[in-house]
Amino acid sequence: MAKPHFITSLDIGTSSIKALVVQQNPNSELENIAFFQKPVSGIRRGIVINVQEVTRALEDVQEEMEIQTGQKINSVYINIGGSHIFCTSSEGKVAVSRADKQVSEEDIDRVLEDAKTFSLSPNKEILGVFPRNFIVDGEKVKEAVGMKGVRLEVEALVVCVFSPYFKNLQQSILNSGFQTTNDIIPSAIAAARAVLSPRQKELGVALLDIGEGTSSLAVFEEGSVIHLAVLPVGSANITHDIAIGLRTDIDIAERIKKEFGSCLISKKEKREKIEIKEPEPLVFTRKILNNIIEARVSQIFEEMNKELKKISKDSLLPAGIVLTGGGAKLPGIVRLAKRELRLPCKIGRPHGFVGLDKDPGLATICGLTLMGLDLEGAESSPSMVGEAVSRVKNFFKSLIP
Ligand SMILES: Nc1ncnc2c1ncn2[C@@H]1O[C@H](COP(=O)(O)OP(=O)(O)OP(=O)(O)O)[C@@H](O)[C@H]1O
Ligand SMILES: [Mg+2]
Repeated sequence: MAKPHFITSLDIGTSSIKALVVQQNPNSELENIAFFQKPVSGIRRGIVINVQEVTRALEDVQEEMEIQTGQKINSVYINIGGSHIFCTSSEGKVAVSRADKQVSEEDIDRVLEDAKTFSLSPNKEILGVFPRNFIVDGEKVKEAVGMKGVRLEVEALVVCVFSPYFKNLQQSILNSGFQTTNDIIPSAIAAARAVLSPRQKELGVALLDIGEGTSSLAVFEEGSVIHLAVLPVGSANITHDIAIGLRTDIDIAERIKKEFGSCLISKKEKREKIEIKEPEPLVFTRKILNNIIEARVSQIFEEMNKELKKISKDSLLPAGIVLTGGGAKLPGIVRLAKRELRLPCKIGRPHGFVGLDKDPGLATICGLTLMGLDLEGAESSPSMVGEAVSRVKNFFKSLIP
């Protein structure tokens, strides 16, 4: 009997590695075959700093997958995190090559290659190129293939990484026996695939994925990614602040954050006392806890706003802010974001994954899976032959609007 075709994704995060294996049934519905999380050490603020530890965690993941699916799975879709990721605007220009002057897929490849030719220090490398607009003989278009012209230009966003950190991630994946057949995708881009609609991306929207060690930002406008940044601050900072502020152990602080933590509370709630009995008695007011959390979450939003200011989009995104990541589960965070950022805000929950509970903390892994499906669906669809297939042969190009 033929092996079932699984789509497998791994979200390598600071707190855990999340693994999801799905299968598409004949009605195109997704069936979750396996979902689990494994703790990981060796990752600091989204960056693989200890290859051996991360390799070991990935080997654990592979073993668990084999137990849960009955198959040895090698090929996976994977994300990349860490504040070493940065983006820069670039342009490319080529002459249309075909004799009939129709822009071909090859011209698109060449112009995107041309957009990569700029000076970059030797320890940095390009992860991928997101085209924003193509320009055919001076006319801006979103889709250039098939148009007639002499000169093809592109305005693009180029995503770059610090090579040693990228190599660490690649080495851990390789050592553990997994393979990534496609590009490795920044977490916020993957999360955006799971929770943002084309309309939001068209209008202008910012996604902020608040993870354990980082907060990843992706900004979209007119359907394209226009900015990407990873802030080196995340939900672990809230836990650390609670541990210091309440003079308690880090594990208790984490428990307090999840059980009692929230942003923006009422005057009445502020007077409430919280009592922890185990492992040692601890009493504090909700006001103190709230002040600690609010200060840190406000700082995260401030840092985010600085990024929006860099691209002149502060308070200027009609579809507002969408929050994902485990850190977005704090009650009251939406109201605080609206107040601090003066924009509409909502929580981004992945849909269509039965049993994953529309959890904003799973946006990245769900998005990776959907990007994998986009890619494989396009490759296997009989209607998408020739040029169309080559268009989606990598993740970055699959994002051409
Ligand atoms: N109910 C909750 N309330 C508040 N915080 C929560 C809640 N549930 C999880 N978190 C926090 O979310 C964080 C984990 O989120 P997530 O899984 O998105 O991070 P990660 O992907 O491992 O990290 P990163 O993306 O930064 O590399 C932890 O710091 C955890 O304390
Ligand atoms: Mg994450």
